[in-house]
Amino acid sequence: MKTRLKRIPLGIAFILLVLLLVACIETPSTPSALDPQGPGASRIASLTWLLVGLGGFTYLVVVGLLGLALWRKRHRPPDDDGVQRDWLRGRGQKLVIGGGVVFPTLILFIIYGVTLNTLSALNNQTQTDPLIIEVIGHQWWWEIHYPQHEFQTANEIHIPVGVPIQFQLTSADVVHSFWVPELHGKLDLLPERRNTLWLEATEAGEYWGLCAEFCGLQHARMLLVIVAEPEVQFNTWLEAQQQPAIEPANPLDEQGQAVFLTKGCDDCHVIRGVAAAGGDLGPDLTHFADRLTLGAGTAPNNRGHLAGWVVDPHGLKPGNLMPATPLTGEELEALLAYMESLR
Ligand code: CUA
Repeated sequence: MKTRLKRIPLGIAFILLVLLLVACIETPSTPSALDPQGPGASRIASLTWLLVGLGGFTYLVVVGLLGLALWRKRHRPPDDDGVQRDWLRGRGQKLVIGGGVVFPTLILFIIYGVTLNTLSALNNQTQTDPLIIEVIGHQWWWEIHYPQHEFQTANEIHIPVGVPIQFQLTSADVVHSFWVPELHGKLDLLPERRNTLWLEATEAGEYWGLCAEFCGLQHARMLLVIVAEPEVQFNTWLEAQQQPAIEPANPLDEQGQAVFLTKGCDDCHVIRGVAAAGGDLGPDLTHFADRLTLGAGTAPNNRGHLAGWVVDPHGLKPGNLMPATPLTGEELEALLAYMESLR
């Protein structure tokens, strides 16, 4: 009875674990490494399942043998005097060498070989003249450069579908880690070093990524999105991003631009084409209105959240570098209108 009672918490823990795993698989909004959408992530997912399979098989063999030993002990014939036999001889010796040396060596060699093969395949790219995207990690956002096309953006990366892209990763401050689970494994962004990662999406779509290395207070709010598009659509985006910012089209937008230039926004942010806006501490805002989120995935990019972000950025994302900007209602309205015009 006592042992039965002891088993109940274990049983509950097991059921909770299964429910948790099922939840991981069935939530479509959470990016899962087990739902690969690119060749890199597919290889990693296959390796994961192989490791789970081999680990599960080994576990069952060990638990089976343990069960057999316990069963045999319990059902020992009464005439057995209980004297321990010498297990290091005869059948016992074979079992120890086979199960304790040969079997684990074989399993570990299979794992070692397949892992090395996967690692080398992930980096084995023969693509000549690839599209290069530089990603620079900051506390807590992503600076994105397209060096061949001479523009930069932030937190949102567009790529063409079905083409391997070369990502070059580095950091402006501490160690971060670039991870888009559905497309590839993690790779660190290190200060004063450049790591290369090849990434490809097989289907068009939005793929959410995150920082996978603890990097300070807002590590959890350091998200990014990769938008994979058909070639034509991607080229349109690329063309638009290279253009300087749109000119203010009405008096309200003009007033908003003046607010941007007089209230200190331009100390940290660039808007290409606006002469005085030249700081590089914060994200480039040239085509800000096209982006999906604010503060690297902290909030959706809409008027309400943008107003909150400008007036009280620490309310949304405590600890971030952007200072609160006190504005009158009129100034704020003009600034919001101008920011929303930056398509
Ligand atoms: Cu950057 Cu965690």
